[in-house]
Amino acid sequence: MPGNRKSAGNQQRNNRSSAENRGAKAVKNSGIHRSPKQKGSNRNNLKQKGLNRKDLKQKHFKQEWKPGNMVYPVPAVLVTVRDRAGNDNIITVAWTGTVCTNPPMAYISVRPERYSYHMIKETGEFVINLTTRELAFAADYCGVKSGREIDKFQELHLTRQAASKVLAPLIGESPVNIECKVTECLELGSHHMFLAEVKAVHISESYLDAKGAFHLEKAEPIVYSHGEYFGLSQALGTFGYSIRKK
Ligand SMILES: Cc1cc2nc3c(=O)[nH]c(=O)nc-3n(C[C@H](O)[C@H](O)[C@H](O)COP(=O)(O)O)c2cc1C
Repeated sequence: MPGNRKSAGNQQRNNRSSAENRGAKAVKNSGIHRSPKQKGSNRNNLKQKGLNRKDLKQKHFKQEWKPGNMVYPVPAVLVTVRDRAGNDNIITVAWTGTVCTNPPMAYISVRPERYSYHMIKETGEFVINLTTRELAFAADYCGVKSGREIDKFQELHLTRQAASKVLAPLIGESPVNIECKVTECLELGSHHMFLAEVKAVHISESYLDAKGAFHLEKAEPIVYSHGEYFGLSQALGTFGYSIRKK
């Protein structure tokens, strides 16, 4: 369950609990790193803001917190699973990511007490469905309701689509569906990490341009940070822009 933002004090007391479902107040960051050219204008910027060099140093003061999960923002994906008897379920997962380009590999970390856990264990399969502004409600709902009590597909009127390499269904409304087969389960502690090979990827045609390029940004992807869901506002550059000749 995603919690509200917590004070620094609360964070220090509670940081042993799971960060994927308890918010923690972010340490305010001081700004964007500038390119070498832009750095020259720092003094003028400071003057304009009525700051001196000492103020600038104070801006970078940090608090040291106990070890905890602080890599944010993260994706909040909808993971679809199917058990041996053919029952489907959806679980929201924030502890997920890419771990290898070739072979393409991804992971999800799931607590053994989740209803979905035994389903993944049984079949060794799951699908990662990326989330969008339109799917934000579903992402939250599937992260607070259990498949033990309800059929999340039915409750949310989501479209079940057949996958090609695994038995778990795809979510039709998701712009990207990633079919995965588990290669290893690492029992890390609170969470068990399912390392998996990507077996197939489905891309929604609505976001392909005339040249066949995929524009995920048009699907309005969302991220999860310290207990809140956010949209992405604007592109800041393209890959390699920092070294590209103008
Ligand atoms: C934004 C968000 C992220 C979450 N991330 C994870 C996660 O990475 N791993 C996990 O085990 N549970 C995570 N949860 C909690 C589960 O999604 C939640 O307990 C869900 O109800 C389990 O569903 P199930 O019982 O049908 O499997 C998350 C919840 C939310 C709202």
